[in-house]
Amino acid sequence: MILIIDDDAAVRSSLTFLLKRAGFEPDAVPGPEEALAVVRRTTPQLILMDMNFTLTTTGEEGIQLLKQVKIFQPDVPVILMTAWGSISLAVQGMQAGAFDFVTKPWNNLVLLKSIRTAIELSEQKKEQETPLNRLDADNKFHFDKIIGQSAPLMEVLGTVSRIAPTNASVLITGESGTGKELIAEAIHTNSPRAKEPFVKVNLGGLSQSLFESEMFGHKKGAFTDAYIDRTGRFEMANKGTIFLDEIGDLELSCQVKLLRVLQDQTFEVLGDSRPRKVDIRVVSATNCNLREMVAERTFREDLFYRINLITVHLPALRERKDDIPLLARYFADKQSEMNGLPAVRFSSEALNFLQKLPYPGNIRELKNLVERTMLVSGKAVLEASDFESQCLHTTLSAKVEAVPSLDGLTLDELEKQTILQALKTHAGNLSHVATALGISRAALYRRLEKYDIPVDK
Ligand SMILES: Nc1ncnc2c1ncn2[C@@H]1O[C@H](COP(=O)(O)OP(=O)(O)OP(=O)(O)O)[C@@H](O)[C@H]1O
Ligand SMILES: [Mg+2]
Repeated sequence: MILIIDDDAAVRSSLTFLLKRAGFEPDAVPGPEEALAVVRRTTPQLILMDMNFTLTTTGEEGIQLLKQVKIFQPDVPVILMTAWGSISLAVQGMQAGAFDFVTKPWNNLVLLKSIRTAIELSEQKKEQETPLNRLDADNKFHFDKIIGQSAPLMEVLGTVSRIAPTNASVLITGESGTGKELIAEAIHTNSPRAKEPFVKVNLGGLSQSLFESEMFGHKKGAFTDAYIDRTGRFEMANKGTIFLDEIGDLELSCQVKLLRVLQDQTFEVLGDSRPRKVDIRVVSATNCNLREMVAERTFREDLFYRINLITVHLPALRERKDDIPLLARYFADKQSEMNGLPAVRFSSEALNFLQKLPYPGNIRELKNLVERTMLVSGKAVLEASDFESQCLHTTLSAKVEAVPSLDGLTLDELEKQTILQALKTHAGNLSHVATALGISRAALYRRLEKYDIPVDK
């Protein structure tokens, strides 16, 4: 049974009708008192709760009710309904343990999707699955590009296999190079949307002015440079999955626009006021700490909850050292295959050595190290010393050379060197540095933090 709580009789009857038609068993009550009476004696599958009751306009009553319901039924998912104007109320509700929020007037499809997702996820929780093992994982799912069988990785794959079939929005966190993009693809590939598009957008590289036409598309003539119609990423991703990469780098003004689309799954193409509906699953990734950014008010809390029904955290490579030999062999084999060369082997000292490195650049760094060492040494059996000299080479070249030689640097090292160089050129003036690099100040700050570059702000 789904419990509907709303003081408006018209809302109760239309929700009841909608849910019945969708195959659920709704039961509607007008207020907190009746609702508490219900949750005391039965356990609904889900609760759909209005936040604004007529008596008060602050929504205080709604939050109170939510907290009380949570005491009686801590495991029942609650979906809040609130007007756009009082979305901050939904945020408070999420903090108090609501599962999701929907804005009024609601979009039937969005609401039903949220309800189904909530029920699917809460049923899975009850099943308490045993940890996934690699063999089962490979038999049941498509994880072929994801190498490893360490406990931390298997936990990630376990979560992915449970949530992939749902429509839940997923936030993937983890340091640079830990495989966030790979996991985003795996969520799509293992979902019912697998045959539909997977559209990747790098929000980190998007300036504010580009954001709208990139995401929503534009009609010819919508603005000066709009010479032809352009299809936005949301439209391209229709029925499939949209992957919002580096979402922590999105400017605040764009965040509210993104929230609107995700909330209603409708948007307007620039120069065309006809709203368009889309059906998309949202997967986001970041190596920023969004919780901290929410506390600092550089990331909207409502958007944070919207993209984050599920969080998948990817452990750093140093937390899954057991996987290093497997990964090293995998990258070596792929490289040999690509160049049509015979496979190389690793001495056991070499594998030991590889397991001891710190890998600030995680799997990407390991991959680069293996590939570079193979190229430079040209040997059939790689020894610890071969890797050692490659490591020395990078640390030295990164430290000594003022102008970095591109050779042998990972993308991250290259980025760091470029920033250091720009800081020098512009005598530490951050606005100038940001302009010179073509990124926002916020994006620059985050990179300074990421690479531990000290500056006086
Ligand atoms: N478990 C894994 N097995 C095989 N390859 C992996 C694995 N994890 C990551 N990789 C590889 O490592 C590289 C980095 O992965 P990916 O681009 O997904 O990282 P990321 O977390 O998105 O990094 P960033 O934050 O810098 O964007 C890619 O070449 C990817 O294929
Ligand atoms: Mg990435």
